Amino acid sequence: MKIRKDEIKEVLIKHTQIQKRVKELAAEISADFRGKNLLVVGVLKGAWIYLADLVRQLDLNVDIDFVAASSYRGGTESTGVIDIQKNLSADCTGRDVLLVEDILDSGTTLAHIKELLLARNAKSVTITALLSKPSRRVVPVDAKYIGFEIEDKFVVGYGMDYAEKYRGLKDICVLNESVYDR
Ligand code: IMP
Ligand code: MG
Repeated sequence: MKIRKDEIKEVLIKHTQIQKRVKELAAEISADFRGKNLLVVGVLKGAWIYLADLVRQLDLNVDIDFVAASSYRGGTESTGVIDIQKNLSADCTGRDVLLVEDILDSGTTLAHIKELLLARNAKSVTITALLSKPSRRVVPVDAKYIGFEIEDKFVVGYGMDYAEKYRGLKDICVLNESVYDR
């Protein structure tokens, strides 16, 4: 996806750097879950590109499912209320689940979805998030595989949006303030 130069303030993480990190994470996950039949659960919509890149690097046979959740109402701040728009289709009873998220912010979303999976009798739930903003955490979440820790900046690209835009950007970027005033 092409973007107008005046919309971007900063390229925070270039796609080459993302690809390198995703490979490293996939190697770790493959080693840790060797021989296990993992159920990979992506959190829509933000995690779709990370999940697609990650599973193609995994040296494991995995099943894939999605939940759709949102705590955002078009702005850049979480409302703290999680709305599950699509629940799991697969039966996760007795399964080792890898929960895949784009970004761990307040922690509300992942804490909620993890509980949901455990309530559906998942054997284990391990979390990976491509990004984490540790300074924003409200609910503690134990995420085993984190791609990059970033500062408290609102980012878009590589699946992540602002008001449903910019998901197709290859790099992870910070937008100019002027975009939010529109
Ligand atoms: P949490 O529940 O506050 O941890 O929020 C997590 C969700 O908020 C993520 O799955 C993202 O969809 C969204 N989110 C948090 N920070 C950002 C950001 O910087 N850019 C885009 N989406 C974000
Ligand atoms: Mg998300």
